[in-house]
Amino acid sequence: MTSIYLKGGTVVSATGADAADVLIDGDIIAAVLQPGSELAATAEAGAERVLDASGKYVIPGGVDVHTHMQLPMGPTSSSDTFESGTTAAAWGGTTTIIDFAAQMKGQQVRHGLDERMAEAEGNCAIDYAFHMVIGDVTETALKDMAALVDEGITSFKLFMAYPGVYYSDDGEILRAMQTASETGAMIMMHAENGIAIDVLAEQAVARGETSPITHGLVRRQELESEATHRAIKLAKVGAAPLYIVHLSASGALEEVTRARNDGANVFAETCPQYLYLNLEDHLGVPGFEGAKYVCSTPLRSKHEHHQADLWKGLRTDDLSVVATDHCPFCMKDQKELGLDDFRAIPNGIGGVEHRMDLIYQGVVQGEITLPRWVELCSTTPARMFGLYPRKGVIQPGSDADIVVYDPASSWTISVDNHHMNMDYSAFEGIRIDGSVDTVLARGNIIIGGGKYLGRKGDGRYLKRGLSQYLM
Ligand code: URP
Ligand code: ZN
Ligand code: ZN
Repeated sequence: MTSIYLKGGTVVSATGADAADVLIDGDIIAAVLQPGSELAATAEAGAERVLDASGKYVIPGGVDVHTHMQLPMGPTSSSDTFESGTTAAAWGGTTTIIDFAAQMKGQQVRHGLDERMAEAEGNCAIDYAFHMVIGDVTETALKDMAALVDEGITSFKLFMAYPGVYYSDDGEILRAMQTASETGAMIMMHAENGIAIDVLAEQAVARGETSPITHGLVRRQELESEATHRAIKLAKVGAAPLYIVHLSASGALEEVTRARNDGANVFAETCPQYLYLNLEDHLGVPGFEGAKYVCSTPLRSKHEHHQADLWKGLRTDDLSVVATDHCPFCMKDQKELGLDDFRAIPNGIGGVEHRMDLIYQGVVQGEITLPRWVELCSTTPARMFGLYPRKGVIQPGSDADIVVYDPASSWTISVDNHHMNMDYSAFEGIRIDGSVDTVLARGNIIIGGGKYLGRKGDGRYLKRGLSQYLM
């Protein structure tokens, strides 16, 4: 096992940024040292390799807690495999993902999990874990939920959207929440009123409104706030912690903020697409181009104040995490399935590669501080989902998942330079100040000198503990 001495950088944590050197021994961080000290000199002299991080930030590897690699959706599947998607994540400075295994209607929970484990095993470039989607809340499923917590699957996603597919009604949601409460699991919620959305969608199609923007118009923000409100109240009755996924709108954020101010154990994530893209300029571009931006929850109107409110929520901690909801589809043969009817466009945007860079722009633009960037993208995600302090922090004993980030370089996001398996980039043309220079995953340099140096299968499955945010 190689020892590496990372020298001259600024180590950034969720609480501050200091000049410090880092000694890595094999796959673990052995020491964080004061530069110029006697201890540092001894450690450097004993290391097999010295990496110069002068002028750069040294941050814990990104933890993206919401991805969907090779996710079956209708007649197709999301276009990144575990191999291509985790490799793209590595390029962007993310060293851990939490993806989803799903129990479909009529299926055993364990069947969905076993299938997903087999798909990922030996194919990931970085460490990975799973949340479990409960798509059929039966007595057996509730028992399986409890058993899975002991096996390291400690969070369960439920859907208030997608009637007939993953949808759970309020009674089912309450039962799952009660089980979560008994076992210490976290409930993750896709909070949109899917029953009402389907009515609006059907009415829109009957009027001949079939283009991509209609997807955003029928998925009204009121239906996100209503579902968020209902989820919060059900979680209170069920005495369960609640984590709202892909929060996109001011109204839903107000519900989360109110609940948090009342002392509820409620958390929310947002995603880069809601901070950078909008209904009119993206989902609403003429022709079928808007299909590139079809995702749920949808992009919101630039004429309201969603993006400013989301940035504010990131500052105030009413939004605790930034994840990507990476769910890529190519335009060709995939998004095109919905050429005649927006309801057939597979839902999802790919972005696993760009989260660290896009949220760093918040630092550049004065929206968040440097430590807050690390907290939102690495530390809190790890703590929220039972991976801390193995992941999400640079301290002795933690996995040596480290990104050397160069604040001095700049570049532009494009389909021509990304590594995701997509024939377009949703973030095309966005100028990025800063870039990922070197990525270490458990002590292996997997990105360095502009090259991918890792291998599929480097990534290991992570059994998770309980959330550190449980009351
Ligand atoms: O559009 C999205 N978000 N696709 C992925 C599935 C989900 O609901 O997270
Ligand atoms: Zn969802
Ligand atoms: Zn998702």
